[in-house]
Amino acid sequence: MNDFRTDPRFKGIEPFEKKVWLSSPTMHGDEQKWVDDAIQTNWVSTVGANINEVERLMAEYVGVKYAVGLSCGTAALHLATKRAAEKLYGQAKPNAGTLAGKKVFCSDVTFDASINPVAYEDGEAVFIDTETDTWNMSPEALEEAFMLYPDVKLVVIAHLYGTPGKMEEIRQICDKHGALIVEDAAESLGAKYKLGGRWVETGSLGDYNAISFNGNKIITGSAGGLFLTDSKEDADKVRKWSTQSREAAPWYQHEEIGYNYRMSNIVAGVIRGQIPYLDEHIAQKRAIYERYREGLKDLPVRMNPYDAEKSEPNFWLSCCIIDEEAMAPMVRGENDYLYTSESGKSSPQEILDAIASFGAEGRPIWKPMHMQPIYRTHPFVTVEGNGRGRTNAYIKGSGVDVGADIFRRGLCLPSDNKMTEEQQDRVIEIIHRCFR
Ligand SMILES: Cc1ncc(COP(=O)(O)O)c(C=O)c1O
Repeated sequence: MNDFRTDPRFKGIEPFEKKVWLSSPTMHGDEQKWVDDAIQTNWVSTVGANINEVERLMAEYVGVKYAVGLSCGTAALHLATKRAAEKLYGQAKPNAGTLAGKKVFCSDVTFDASINPVAYEDGEAVFIDTETDTWNMSPEALEEAFMLYPDVKLVVIAHLYGTPGKMEEIRQICDKHGALIVEDAAESLGAKYKLGGRWVETGSLGDYNAISFNGNKIITGSAGGLFLTDSKEDADKVRKWSTQSREAAPWYQHEEIGYNYRMSNIVAGVIRGQIPYLDEHIAQKRAIYERYREGLKDLPVRMNPYDAEKSEPNFWLSCCIIDEEAMAPMVRGENDYLYTSESGKSSPQEILDAIASFGAEGRPIWKPMHMQPIYRTHPFVTVEGNGRGRTNAYIKGSGVDVGADIFRRGLCLPSDNKMTEEQQDRVIEIIHRCFR
């Protein structure tokens, strides 16, 4: 990483006294009360009043009938995916995944936890390219995917950075093809979407839904996640699987494979203390997004977009994307990068290095799954159809790849809700200096 503190372009800018985070936990005090309550009443286990309350309050907030407290969002996504697969393809043997031999359409620009459960269950993720209006799964590319793979019956969709995707279109396409949806609302808790003229919460839009309380999320329990559903049968099954699939026998009796995925009552105490502050956190994140939009408007960059008519993001992370003409040369290897500075231009890695030099944390856009070494042999579908193998030795490839483009030109900005206006102004000033 280059240190920009001695670069003349940044003269007069002081380093931050305390690190400015991308998105860190924000405690309010009630968390301690509920953790202490669990300890004092000796409910230090995967049962207790905190878990019951978190499940009740969050089901109410999201507008679903049932919530099942789990150890993390990844566990919630795993059991959501497994439950969907079992519904579609039946119960697998204990030593086989429920998706063996099956393909699943998946969001491409997302954190790998969204889609790894497909592999846990022995399925093959087919990555669907991204659209430019919300940076989520492209309905057009999804249509193309159903043309290429008409037998697919499951779609895993995430709402990137807290911005709802085009769920109305995606639901219509899935219904047409008889496919079920696993919704990953890990990043979008509290974001709303207008479906059929009615505002609904993300986390209630799929057939099987998951949220996360990871330490970087809009509210946290240090860890934790929820499986959300309107089906009592699904909720009961997921709760059973999450507690090692114990049967109602005096001894340990098992009819099916189980997991140790249940939420801890201590973790639930932290979440219980955070829930009353969810809306306040969203308002703070929105203010940060709007200040960036205003502060960066004279630069050749745009903020991460959303559909203001049909959605209300939770603004979990503020991001920006540099106009093509203003991109300075930048190359990324597997684990390293190189860029040059040019007058009037910059690049995501230069901006990230610059803000890091002064003590602020940003991050590259989540690298698309179809570009990840582990998934490079998996299919990738764009609005043009098959997105793989479009180049040859004689013709330079010019295929559409929206996700790769957002990864190349975009970045996540410091979005911590404890960031002061002065700190944010300084981040904005550093970004301006990068373009000098
Ligand atoms: C989109 C997305 N899905 C899933 C997860 C996994 O959640 P957890 O860390 O709670 O397992 C995360 C973040 O951590 C995420 O950002």
